[in-house]
Amino acid sequence: MLLSPSHTFPITFYFTAMTLFEKLRCLFTFGQGVALPLPDISSQTNPIQLFNQWFNDAIKSGILLPESMSVSSCDKNGQPSSRMVLLKEFNDNGFVFYTNYASRKSQDLTENNKIALLFHWNVLQRQVRIEGVVEQVTREQSEKYFHSRDRGSQIGAWASKQSSPLANKEELQKQEAFYSEKFAGQEIPLPEFWGGWRIKPHYIEFWQGRANRLHDRICFQRENIENETQKDQNNLWRQFKLNP
Ligand SMILES: Cc1cc2nc3c(=O)[nH]c(=O)nc-3n(C[C@H](O)[C@H](O)[C@H](O)COP(=O)(O)O)c2cc1C
Repeated sequence: MLLSPSHTFPITFYFTAMTLFEKLRCLFTFGQGVALPLPDISSQTNPIQLFNQWFNDAIKSGILLPESMSVSSCDKNGQPSSRMVLLKEFNDNGFVFYTNYASRKSQDLTENNKIALLFHWNVLQRQVRIEGVVEQVTREQSEKYFHSRDRGSQIGAWASKQSSPLANKEELQKQEAFYSEKFAGQEIPLPEFWGGWRIKPHYIEFWQGRANRLHDRICFQRENIENETQKDQNNLWRQFKLNP
């Protein structure tokens, strides 16, 4: 199955409830290591398509914010740091989130483009680990996403000097009032300092909880990124398993 060029998450997905049977199975197996069966994984399985299946399972399960993920970056001294963000798009080109380009994470990523993502869908007993490098998305793409947000969030992006020290709450409220007035009655422009990062993965691991801690770990390592345009997408990935 080929993914559409840009997988976004229509809100209707959130209302695709699990069947009663699926809910009961999740309820009664939580913590016992007997979760959803692994989908068919052949040597030809594409990890982005597998991620799509797991992501849809997570949406169906009713987990709040299934698109939330941990992002880990490293500063120039090698000090790692992690925080949660929201995944806004994924496809064969990578995984995209949006943030302030002057924030701590963005400063790290500008100095060191290596990144790790982590999803944990607890009721499904699944995690997905992703490692790769980042690049900024185009300004056009950031603009499109920025303008899809509600007005309050757009003002918030202008008002917050993300990750800079804040003297007190009033300072932030003043900034919010300032930009609300400044942009009153007009379209709010995308700030220069705000936009998306795309993670281009070279390692994706799917972890499925199993009984007796004998979990499944199915890993995909991307080979030879330089030559990717010459190859079939599936052959770019070497698949292997790891001990739990
Ligand atoms: C569930 C959740 C989702 C979040 N989504 C985002 C996001 O998409 N972009 C963002 O900049 N911060 C997001 N945040 C806030 C970040 O976790 C973090 O506090 C902020 O980006 C500053 O991080 P930094 O100082 O390491 O750059 C989210 C927090 C939570 C708990």
